Order: sequence, then C-alpha cells, then structure tokens
Amino acid sequence: MKKIAIIGLGYVGLPLAHAFSARYSVVGFDINEARVKELNEGYDRTLELDEHQMEEALENDMKFTANLDDIADCNIYIVTVPTPIDKDNRPDLTPLVQSSQSIGKVLKKGDVVIYESTVYPGVTEEVCVPELEKTSGLKFNKDFFVGYSPERINPGDKEHTVTKILKVTSGSTPEIAKKVDTLYKSVIVAGTFLASSIKVAEASKVIENTQRDVNIALINELALIFDTMGIDTNEVIDAAATKWNFIKLTPGLVGGHCIGVDPYYLTYKAEELGYKPNLILGARQINNGMGKYIAEQTIKEMIKHDKKVKNANILVLGVTFKEDCPDMRNTKVVDIIEELKSYECQVDVYDPWVDPNEPKQHYTHGIIANPFESEKKYDAIILAVAHQQFKVLARSAYEKLSTSEAVLIDVKGIIENPTWRL
Ligand SMILES: NC(=O)c1ccc[n+]([C@@H]2O[C@H](COP(=O)([O-])OP(=O)(O)OC[C@H]3O[C@@H](n4cnc5c(N)ncnc54)[C@H](O)[C@@H]3O)[C@@H](O)[C@H]2O)c1
Repeated sequence: MKKIAIIGLGYVGLPLAHAFSARYSVVGFDINEARVKELNEGYDRTLELDEHQMEEALENDMKFTANLDDIADCNIYIVTVPTPIDKDNRPDLTPLVQSSQSIGKVLKKGDVVIYESTVYPGVTEEVCVPELEKTSGLKFNKDFFVGYSPERINPGDKEHTVTKILKVTSGSTPEIAKKVDTLYKSVIVAGTFLASSIKVAEASKVIENTQRDVNIALINELALIFDTMGIDTNEVIDAAATKWNFIKLTPGLVGGHCIGVDPYYLTYKAEELGYKPNLILGARQINNGMGKYIAEQTIKEMIKHDKKVKNANILVLGVTFKEDCPDMRNTKVVDIIEELKSYECQVDVYDPWVDPNEPKQHYTHGIIANPFESEKKYDAIILAVAHQQFKVLARSAYEKLSTSEAVLIDVKGIIENPTWRL
C-alpha cells in the first residue's frame, strides 16, 4: 500500500498533500513547528486551502508533523521545499540538501523520492541523489529511485488549482517514470505529461518561468521607451494585441518566489558551463529596476504638481508580490518604498491581505490601519497591487485621501485617469 510523505508544507506542499489525501494515506512533514501546529489546528496562513479543505484533509486522516519518525513508514516521499537564491543571486540549495538528508535517514529499499521544487537541470540526480545515498547507505536505482514532477500552481489563483493543472512527470528509470506518472494521474484531473528524463522535466519548469520573465521584461522595456516618448504603453499594447500572434502582457513589477528567482537557477548553471545568458540576465536587470523607476516617476509627478518632496506623505496601496494573496516573498513594492525613503519621503503602506502583526520577514516598514477610514491626507498615492479591495473603489475614494491636486500613480491600470500609470 502506498503511504506518501510530503516534505515542506508551504504554498506548494499543502495543496498537494490535500489532493493526495483524498486517495492515499498522507503525512505532511515540515521543519517549521509553528506551521505544523497551525495546520493541525486547521488553519492555513497561506490561504491556499480554506477551512473546509483543511477539515477535509484532517478527516482523511492526514497528519502534519515535524517529527521524522512519523514519516519513517512511508514509501513515497515528495519534496516541496523552497529553492531561493542568495544575496548574489546564486541558487541556495540548502533546503533541498537538508530535506534529502532527512529523507535519507528514513529511506528504505524500494522507496521512491519525487522532487517538485523548481531547480536547474541536474539538481535532482547530481545534488539530491548523492545526499540520499550518503545518509541512507542505499544504492540509487537499485535500492531506491527518484522522480521529478515540477509544480505549476499560481498562489492566490482559485481557478487553476493543483489538480486542474496538467503535470509533467519523470523518473530515474523507465519503470519508475511510469510509476510516478500513474501516481500523479490518479489525483491530477487535468492529466500528466511523461517527460523523457528527469533533466528534461527540470528544464521544462525553469524555462516556463524564464520565458515569462523575459516576455515581461520586453514589455517593461517598451514602457520605459514609450514613457520618454509620451505614448501610453497600455494603449500601444491594446492596439498591437489585435494581431493574433502578439503575446498580450502588461508592464509591472516581477516579484515572488518563482518568476523573479527561477531564471537565476538557469543562468547560474549556464555560466558554470561557460555560456553567458545575456538575454535572460538583461531581462532580470530590467525587471529588477522597475520599482526604482516607479518611485522616480512619482517624485517627478509630485514636482510637476508643486508638491514638496522632502517629508511628503506618500501612501502605498498593496505590498504583496501579487494581487489577492498574502504572499510577500521577494515583493518588489519594497523597492518603490526604499527609493521614496531615499528622497526623505514619509511612506505609509496599507495592504488588506497582510496581517500587520505578522513577523516582518520580508518587509520591515510596518503596515498601517485602513487609511480609507482615517483623516490623514497624502501628497501622493501609489496603487501598487491590484487587490480586489482597491479595484472596486472609484477614483473619488482615492481623491478623498489626498491633499489638493492629487498625485495618483497607478502601477496596475486600475483607476481612471491616474496622474501617471506604468
Ligand atoms: N509558490 C508557488 O507558486 C510555486 C509554484 C510552482 C513551484 N514552486 C516551487 O515549489 C517549491 C516550494 O515553494 P513554496 O512556495 O511552497 O515554498 P514555501 O516557502 O511556501 O514552503 C516551503 C516549506 O518547506 C519547509 N521547509 C524548508 N526546509 C525544509 C526541510 N529541510 N524539511 C522540511 N521542510 C522544509 C518550510 O518550512 C516551508 O513551510 C519551490 O521550489 C518553488 O520554486 C512554487
């Protein structure tokens, strides 16, 4: 009988555990004891699973644990730990190495370890497998096997949830590849695509996000060019998108744990092999510069509207990396705030999705209470994230928050006639 352990219960691991728990016996393992406690109490702070789904998982006998002994009798281990970058934009494989070492301690003959974390091609077989072999003393592809099946979920997206997205699968031998594929097919309603090798499956995931990053960078670069020409980029995009093969994207900030991070995994490996990936790195540089650019445009507009810059009160609406979710990882709104502060502006930040009491891991400036219920007036307002709560408001609601001659900066194209929009 299959018993599955999901290692790493974050945005990816928890919904996956819930999906498997409908058919299999599942144990969720995480080193974060506070997270495990909350999950056992039926609360998911990432909001990927609602109360009802948490109840469902717990009723399906799903267990959440931080104790390795609780996953010792599993025979399938699925790894969904983070794959961040360090301060020099190099892959930080520590969570993958450490989780492989943990699994190695409980690995038995016949077990299968499937990695889902986004990596560059080669990480599963060249970095993780040696750790599994070392800690377990078992032999790869003789005693135990591995698979790779990248995750494609989109945090906050309630339509494209884990079982509704076609899943790429792969395995370390043809038989194991089939076994891995059959396992996912049994819960992924959208079906699976069995890749020819683990490296192909790894590469397929990293290029999905790299392609998106490069495409957005092109649109961002066009926005920078059209801005100097006094042309509205969004109007240009609407016109160009009337051609069937134009990819319609809008300019914006690229943050989060995936699109702004994964391309560095690929560029790291490419450079290690002696190839300089100029296009991908150039795209990263453009996208990373957008926060500073938005702040500079805000300052210019304030000057045009006779607003004093030093000590000006500026309100930033939204600080998560994307709309309608509480995920703040690698949010580029922070770049806007930092740049404005360098002009000695007083910046208030409001985000209805972020708990003001949450430990400030990703962001240190604090969140104010709902400004729409306060009397404070601002010299400039920046709509940084298109949360539903902001989209439903009319322009007048923002004007009420402003000193005379409101400077309304719209990063996401959600208000009518802003002073400036990206
Ligand atoms: N978030 C997304 O939208 C998304 C989408 C597709 C793919 N991915 C990829 O999936 C992977 C996981 O991302 P995520 O967003 O779920 O991350 P996350 O930070 O939300 O969750 C990861 C969890 O792993 C735990 N963890 C860390 N080290 C561990 C260890 N050694 N043993 C056990 N648990 C450990 C953490 O405590 C955390 O709860 C990453 O590689 C990411 O690139 C993420």
